[in-house]
Amino acid sequence: MTEDLGKLRTDYQMAGLDEAEVDRDPFRQFDLWFDQAREAGLIEPNAMALASADPVGRPSVRMVLLKGADERGFVFYSNFESRKGRELALNPHAALLFWWDRLQRQIRIEGEVAVVAEDEADAYFASRPYGSQIGAWASAQSSVVPDRRVLEDRARHLERTHAEGRVPRPSFWGGYRLVPTRFEFWQGRTSRLHDRLVYRSRDGNDWTIERLSP
Ligand SMILES: Cc1cc2nc3c(=O)[nH]c(=O)nc-3n(C[C@H](O)[C@H](O)[C@H](O)COP(=O)(O)O)c2cc1C
Repeated sequence: MTEDLGKLRTDYQMAGLDEAEVDRDPFRQFDLWFDQAREAGLIEPNAMALASADPVGRPSVRMVLLKGADERGFVFYSNFESRKGRELALNPHAALLFWWDRLQRQIRIEGEVAVVAEDEADAYFASRPYGSQIGAWASAQSSVVPDRRVLEDRARHLERTHAEGRVPRPSFWGGYRLVPTRFEFWQGRTSRLHDRLVYRSRDGNDWTIERLSP
């Protein structure tokens, strides 16, 4: 790398985050910021990093897409037998992270995941494009595949055996709902004196709000 990364920096000056003005309910505060991210024209504001860990605490992280968000939690879909699926089955503690650069905002969400109900996962799977449905069947996600041709041949074969509109949801594929106990809303500020407001709850109802040092 020729560039001096030490000189790469941005001073954040767009907005502030005030505990007197935020919503007392972190789900509503999330909705507000999510709407603003959409209005800002971000391509995939629902792209988020998902961190999981194995039973001895070794972490792993990858991007997934948020497919549902309400007071019950934050939903994403994946393969139950993938690395994340195996980790979450043994250790349900997980964390989500959104970084919306255009708004100089970060949101961190932590809690435990539970598998979403079968009918909910079925309905979402049925709403996916045909190609994505075939792709879910064709990919033994996170396992080694000899080469790309194997994957594509598998997909072509599945297209012959599963007509469009008639692809059932694989039993190894479904949704997870992360039920939060902690949110952090981060707004970049000038000179690294950023605003950080953390919401915590034991029961998911009464949320305390505290400011953290940046
Ligand atoms: C923007 C973006 C969105 C993604 N969305 C998903 C998703 O919703 N579900 C999923 O299983 N993988 C998604 N992926 C792929 C994952 O990042 C990852 O490669 C895959 O799930 C395997 O991860 P694992 O081996 O840790 O289980 C996405 C990748 C990117 C870059």
